[in-house]
Amino acid sequence: MITTRRQRWWLALAALAVLALTAFFLMWRPALEPQAAAPRVDAALVARGANLSRLGMCAACHTVDPLRPFAGGLALTTPFGTVHSTNITPDAQTGIGAWSFEAFERAMRQGVSRDGHLLYPAFPYNHYTRLAQDDMRALYAYLMTRPALSAPARENRMTFPFGFRPLLAFWNLLYLDESPWRPDPGQSAEWNRGAYVADTLAHCTACHTPRTLLGGPDLKRQLDGGEAEDWYAPALNAKSPSPTPWTREHLATYLRTGIAPGHAVAGGPMQDVVVNLGQADAGDVGAVATYIHGFLKHAPARAIPAPGPLPAPGDKDPDLARMRLGYETYAMACASCHDAGRGASSGAALQLQGAVALYDPDPRSLVHIIREGITPPDGAPGRWMPGFATVLNDAQTTALAAYLRRYGANAEPWEDLDEAVQKARTQ
Ligand code: HEC
Ligand code: HEC
Ligand code: HEC
Repeated sequence: MITTRRQRWWLALAALAVLALTAFFLMWRPALEPQAAAPRVDAALVARGANLSRLGMCAACHTVDPLRPFAGGLALTTPFGTVHSTNITPDAQTGIGAWSFEAFERAMRQGVSRDGHLLYPAFPYNHYTRLAQDDMRALYAYLMTRPALSAPARENRMTFPFGFRPLLAFWNLLYLDESPWRPDPGQSAEWNRGAYVADTLAHCTACHTPRTLLGGPDLKRQLDGGEAEDWYAPALNAKSPSPTPWTREHLATYLRTGIAPGHAVAGGPMQDVVVNLGQADAGDVGAVATYIHGFLKHAPARAIPAPGPLPAPGDKDPDLARMRLGYETYAMACASCHDAGRGASSGAALQLQGAVALYDPDPRSLVHIIREGITPPDGAPGRWMPGFATVLNDAQTTALAAYLRRYGANAEPWEDLDEAVQKARTQ
């Protein structure tokens, strides 16, 4: 077919118009009508929704002040900027009081707000999307019966071009799988319950799976270890760095209390997870433990190294000066609590060669623990450790971490240790 120059121009123009239209329909979502009256709900549904909300950890992100539950305002730092959670109380002006069930469901399954703007995946709708319909109704009933609180949305600070929300349509194209959740008939009912809760609500993989450059889950590396708020979230499969093998029972205890015999206490973002799971149905959390343990049990058994204070005389440690500083720092700041080993009623803590943070592939969690200490959440069972941010300088902190890595975990040095310590200080 012979085309004139003019015809080619027209073709190109038409192609461009089609492209623009496709992009528009991909990115544009209509606003949904506000609802005039509050929905009628029954108490049993609300009670079910309460449990689901804990399993889904809605409060972990939407509650900043415990006296103002679900009023939003938490700042979440992402590689693309800072996003704030919003008010999901039934306040008609600043919350979701005017949201029909359809508007709520669309937000939870497609990441679209009632007025049609696309929501950032810092809100894990790519997990909630696969919730069963009756669970979605129960969650809605629960939220719509909370006290209505006025709290306008806080302004987000995104790096260019991520402030332009319609671009999220492309993220959804890549990472949003809206197909309903299906049980695996080859597995037990308990395993399937755990899989459903872990994947749709508790979004364990959101933190424990590495992310791609676009911030989506790297699905080929499920549970291979990820990150959250600059903490490393350890692998929960055969790649687990844990020096102590996990049993299903210890995992169930850890998920509800944040502590289990022989294992480090839950720190950083994992604290919020256990606070929420601690208030949820024990059977549901036990099912999650069964499901996750199915992956964790493939981790190879390791021997915990005996603590070695320093190289024997004559040993040629190229890093001897730093190791000595690390050892001295340990002796001065940590040994009084960590040397003896954790006892049931003593204030002493785990011997550090049993702490997973020493075995992580990067030093971020250990650096945060040293600097910030461990503050058990209000009212939750937990044990307290002071933070050393103002006590130790960078050289001491780095030396301490390098010493613990080498003589505690007997592992290869962390290459990015200096950067991690500097970054933690400037945060
Ligand atoms: C990891 C943090 C996180 C968790 C967990 C979380 N949310 Fe959110 N949620 C957010 C953020 C951040 C936003 C705002 C996103 C934006 O503005 O683009 C949001 C927005 C929403 C919205 C849309 C509100 C609006 O005005 O557009 C709804 C509805 C919502 N969340 C419900 C829930 C429910 C229900 C749960 C628990 C099942 C939950 N969220 C758990 C972070 C979270
Ligand atoms: C006042 C006592 C105390 C001091 C001093 C202390 N810790 Fe802790 N540390 C604790 C307690 C308590 C826990 C939490 C639970 C436990 O292990 O029993 C903890 C937890 C930890 C953890 C997480 C693993 C775990 O044991 O649960 C690491 C890692 C850690 N501390 C490192 C250090 C380092 C490094 C120092 C020195 C800079 C230090 N701690 C100083 C009491 C202390
Ligand atoms: C908001 C992010 C986040 C979510 C969601 C999350 N985790 Fe974690 N998890 C972490 C981080 C970070 C750590 C490391 C904590 C530390 O070093 O103290 C951790 C630690 C753990 C550990 C201890 C690992 C070890 O070997 O010592 C287990 C087990 C665990 N998480 C299981 C789960 C399960 C199961 C779920 C889902 C129910 C879940 N996590 C959801 C961030 C998260």
